[in-house]
Amino acid sequence: MESLEGRVFVVTGGGSGIGRCVALRLAELGAAVAIAGRRAEKLDAVAAEVAAHGGQALAVPTDVRQPDQVDALVGRALDRFGQVDGLVNNAAGNFVVPAEKLSANGWRAVVDIVLNGTWYCTSAVGRALIESGRPGAILSVVATYAWIGHPGTVHSAAAKAGVVTMTRTLAAEWARYGIRLNCIAPGPTTTDGAGAALWATPEDHARVLSSVPAARFAEPAEIADLCGLLLSDRAGYVTGEVLTADGGQSLGRQFYGPPLNAPVPTV
Ligand code: HXC
Repeated sequence: MESLEGRVFVVTGGGSGIGRCVALRLAELGAAVAIAGRRAEKLDAVAAEVAAHGGQALAVPTDVRQPDQVDALVGRALDRFGQVDGLVNNAAGNFVVPAEKLSANGWRAVVDIVLNGTWYCTSAVGRALIESGRPGAILSVVATYAWIGHPGTVHSAAAKAGVVTMTRTLAAEWARYGIRLNCIAPGPTTTDGAGAALWATPEDHARVLSSVPAARFAEPAEIADLCGLLLSDRAGYVTGEVLTADGGQSLGRQFYGPPLNAPVPTV
């Protein structure tokens, strides 16, 4: 894997789950990381983990729904590290609810985090990059239901679809500044946050697992590895793309025949 030595990245939702793993991986590859999230104690713990491995991290409590807090986050990263080279938009909010039961406030909460928050962060980091004249890389974590849809997640699916289109638009608009923007779409991943929101009971967990042809969930570290690659110069000609890492889940919708992840029959 290409080194990220000397680079500085902002990682939102960096206090737990995929975001924590991404922060640790980028630091392992040599980058300094500004870790943002709502809970200071979780951010401090991840920053301490980075430091314990010899890396540099700054914990910045931030609600990505607040543009002034996002601007302050990027300002703190610039003050501390002198530059910013990119961003991982990982912060998300989600819950499964029938669309007819979703309140205006529930819609707003998720769209505010996922779509508006991603825009505030992308805009702030993009402006900092353009002002500094530095090239950069911005990566947003989405989900395959952004383009195939998924009953029960209309707020999140619509917001993630917006993030994909925002990414493709800016990939073309900001290529002239050397800024690449991509998305990664993980399938079910073993994190507490997604687990609580999407497969809270053992029955739900088993049902989700049965939808994955690879017959397992992703590990956060696998997703973090791909983030490191997409942010690195090895992916220097990749922009406006979505990398799906879902064990075949979005391709494996089986209407006829036995489950795709059933044990292979012996002949
Ligand atoms: C119905 C719900 C609900 C639920 C919240 N609401 N949870 N409605 N079912 N389970 C409604 C509330 O009733 C309220 O509406 C509105 O949503 C706002 O809720 P609050 O709790 O006041 O908002 P807030 O504290 O801002 O919390 C935001 C949140 C929360 C999105 C609701 O869950 C959150 O912050 N989550 C962050 C962590 C997270 O969700 N991680 C999982 C991401 S996984 P009313 O009308 O009552 O006021 C992910 C992966 C997807 O995205 C892809 C997987 C393959």
